Amino acid sequence: MSFTKKSLQDVEVKGKKVLVRADYNVPLSDKGEISDDYRIQQSLPTLHYLLQHGAAVIICSHLGRPEGKTNPAESLFPVAKRLQKMLGVDVEFVPDCVGERAEKAAEKLQPGQVLLLENLRFHPEEEANDDQFAGQLASLADIFVQDGFGVVHRAHASTEAITKHLPSAAGLLLEHEVDTITNVVETPKRPLVAVIGGAKIADKIEVLQKLISIADVVAVGGAMANTFLQATGLRIGKSKTEAEDVPLAKEIIELAHAEKAKRSFVFYLPQDGVVASRVDSHAKTRIVDWGTHAIADIEAYPRRPDREASKVAEDEMILDIGPFSGAFIAGTIQLAGTVIWNGAMGVTETKGVQSPVGPTAHGTELIMEAMLGEFGNRPYSLVGGGDTVGFVENCGMVKSFNHVSTGGGASLELLAGRKLPGVEALEGK
Ligand code: 3PG
Ligand code: MG
Repeated sequence: MSFTKKSLQDVEVKGKKVLVRADYNVPLSDKGEISDDYRIQQSLPTLHYLLQHGAAVIICSHLGRPEGKTNPAESLFPVAKRLQKMLGVDVEFVPDCVGERAEKAAEKLQPGQVLLLENLRFHPEEEANDDQFAGQLASLADIFVQDGFGVVHRAHASTEAITKHLPSAAGLLLEHEVDTITNVVETPKRPLVAVIGGAKIADKIEVLQKLISIADVVAVGGAMANTFLQATGLRIGKSKTEAEDVPLAKEIIELAHAEKAKRSFVFYLPQDGVVASRVDSHAKTRIVDWGTHAIADIEAYPRRPDREASKVAEDEMILDIGPFSGAFIAGTIQLAGTVIWNGAMGVTETKGVQSPVGPTAHGTELIMEAMLGEFGNRPYSLVGGGDTVGFVENCGMVKSFNHVSTGGGASLELLAGRKLPGVEALEGK
């Protein structure tokens, strides 16, 4: 299916003021520095296109969740500075997105110039999808271009209501994201392997259901796997888990069993894990092999392994998938035509003592290497956004994948087959 909404090429932008909705919700360090500028990078093609075609460009975005109040720690000012560097064009910044100062700055903006407005979410009307607020924003420009793929799963003033006030079209990033992700779901090169990690099952329930119905393999890792393991009756010590999601986990396991009865399908939960009693670079780790018991047997040979060897102790946490599970998942990737990956397999934020990869990031790194052809086969790779992107960026691997989405929730909803309000609201071709 190809994109059915008006895109940049369908509108005349010469001499026009174009309001671009970007998703510059970038992670900031404690010092307020941008720690990952992938979303800014990916917004550049649309901006270049508009500038080259004679438009004056006004950009709006949100950052964080200031909940309708001005919060200097969530100002887009650092983004203005970074964008200016990356775009190679002066970027003027106004400390509000509506009102007199925004209006004056927009008024005098000339073709080829760029203006970035302050955080939309400093106004409660943004998330309330307020029509009057959308009208105020719209009054700054002649045309609206939606390019904030990461936020189009929200029906907000700058994603939905705004389209009632201005002729609207999709930007290049939005069109590319929607096309790419939709094509992977609808016509994947098979076998299709999905590797899903991260924290909460509740956040990914619809995508798990969808993937169980279309993929050939669904492998689960990360903290989410702990909840699944708990649902199967495994003792997981003090591992991070969402106790209230256990019934959901049981439902998903049943759904996977039903699918297996219908066709050739694998639903894989980790059979071993890296555990420690605390989360830090110096913590002592060990491998617990609750699924096959092979590792404990080999380690203890010729003695009988001690009784705790295949169990997660009460004071231990599962922090990564173990080598057996990593190898199993990497093995399925050797047969794959397409891999969809969303979410880390373990705790990837903990820095390593002597290596850049932390003690509990090996599982995630192994899966990433498998996807990128380290063990022979190199399938088409689609990486869902959110935290996974930060990890991939730190490893310097973003360009190695076929597609790394700028969207977290938006890419999950699209994968699950949901309509996105910010896309639906745009004019058709
Ligand atoms: C994101 O990073 O998920 C998007 O920018 C949307 O932000 P939100 O989840 O706060 O709506
Ligand atoms: Mg989000």
